[in-house]
Amino acid sequence: MPDSTQHDPSARRQAWTSYWASGRLHSCATSFDGNYTGVIGASWRQAFSALPAGTRVLDLATGNGPLPALLWELHGDAVQVDAVDLAGLAPSWHEAGKHASIRFHPGVDMESLPFADASFDVVTSQFGFEYADHGRTLAEICRVAAPGASLRLVMHHHGSRLVQVGREELLHHAWLSAPEGLLEAARGVIPVLAAVRAGRPPDMAAVQAREAYNRAMVALGAAAEASAAPDLLLETRDTVHRLVRDVGADPGAALRALEVLAGSLEQARLRTAEMIACALDRPGIEALARTLSRLCPQARVAFEELAQAEGVLAWAFSADGIGASAG
Ligand SMILES: C[S@@+](CC[C@H](N)C(=O)[O-])C[C@H]1O[C@@H](n2cnc3c(N)ncnc32)[C@H](O)[C@@H]1O
Repeated sequence: MPDSTQHDPSARRQAWTSYWASGRLHSCATSFDGNYTGVIGASWRQAFSALPAGTRVLDLATGNGPLPALLWELHGDAVQVDAVDLAGLAPSWHEAGKHASIRFHPGVDMESLPFADASFDVVTSQFGFEYADHGRTLAEICRVAAPGASLRLVMHHHGSRLVQVGREELLHHAWLSAPEGLLEAARGVIPVLAAVRAGRPPDMAAVQAREAYNRAMVALGAAAEASAAPDLLLETRDTVHRLVRDVGADPGAALRALEVLAGSLEQARLRTAEMIACALDRPGIEALARTLSRLCPQARVAFEELAQAEGVLAWAFSADGIGASAG
């Protein structure tokens, strides 16, 4: 994996645990309100529409459970769902009593599943499977799949709009935390403003800190203006502006809030870098199809691009007839 942060499992897990703790239903909350709509939502609805009562579904890398939520909407408790994720989860829609047919398993690595052989009729993952080791996870999927089971994956596409925005946001992350970026400028100006508010006259260093902050704000405005994906810059600008505006005679609270912001930006950067590193190009998805065909020669494998007006959104990958002893 290209990004060094990919090798730190606890940082990866924590970055997603923090994200899910916010209560968001899925990982593209800024692109899709509610659950997924458009071609991605339609593809899942079609895949799920004809599931017979009693079907056992395993959702890998489930997050706060957009696919279990959709299965509940379509089938209620007629379908049994086990939903695993490496991270800690907080699916606010899920009530243990009401949704007893849906079981969340946080802290579970899909490369090593805690389920018996031949346990599931359908295995799914939305923007999740591609984050793990493909060969080991496919071997686990084939092991826990019942004879004749099917696999449905929606995965990040190398050329999707989400990935393009992600690449641009990585540049914005780099600038925000660079020595001349906004965070460093805010670290410099907050103590200066606090001193002024405490009644001390500004010295030369204070003037320079204010100038550096103003320069960073102007540079951010220009970068946002020139960007097709300015949200990260604009949201960070607004948060920093509020912190700086409200600083009191003691800079402590504002400086602590700034470090909280820096930490959450670093987690967002990590998630974005991971998405880009995991996104599959055509040779990548062809290799995945070959690996599955080797592990499970009887499987009928297919894949296609999911696209709508704004361009390609994802890969849809499916395999029917998986499961150890399917003939
Ligand atoms: C982009 S989110 C997708 C979540 C959800 N399926 C959705 O559609 O919103 C990727 C998820 O994969 C999980 N993940 C990454 N590697 C994993 C692994 N090896 N095993 C299980 N989950 C993993 C992360 O914790 C994160 O929740």
